[in-house]
Amino acid sequence: MKIAIGADHAGVDLKDVICQHLQAQGHDVQDFGTRSHESTDYPDYARAVAEAVAAGQFDRGILICGTGQGMVMTANKVRGIRAAVCLETYSARMSREHNNANVLCLGGRVVGPGLALDIVDIWLRTEFSDSPRHQRRLDKIAEVEQAHRR
Ligand code: RB5
Repeated sequence: MKIAIGADHAGVDLKDVICQHLQAQGHDVQDFGTRSHESTDYPDYARAVAEAVAAGQFDRGILICGTGQGMVMTANKVRGIRAAVCLETYSARMSREHNNANVLCLGGRVVGPGLALDIVDIWLRTEFSDSPRHQRRLDKIAEVEQAHRR
């Protein structure tokens, strides 16, 4: 799978752990930074990853900040992005099965590396449900997006 990944300074350590894990599994991972603990602005990384996923250059995106909240707020401003903060495995599975999330947001100050890797693995391998009611709801999300297009 082609995966875009990005983090701010609060997520950089977890990003590196996830990158190594995904590369060891054979995924094609592109790291959008940051690469140090120097203070940075999470919207810069969220925007770069979300735009690359929305453009079809990647199958999925992963974003990590301190809580995941700033990343999810920014990523969901990009048309076509369905980003989800998942801090446990049930939400990770359901965000794929019911919501067809294409960007996963994690909190580097909330989850440890062991749980984070379980979340990532479950999120990557779970398929979107083929039940029409879930697609109907996603279509309604897209209608909201369209109605608020500038
Ligand atoms: C940085 O201190 C922190 O605010 C950021 O990583 C993130 O948690 C914001 O949502």
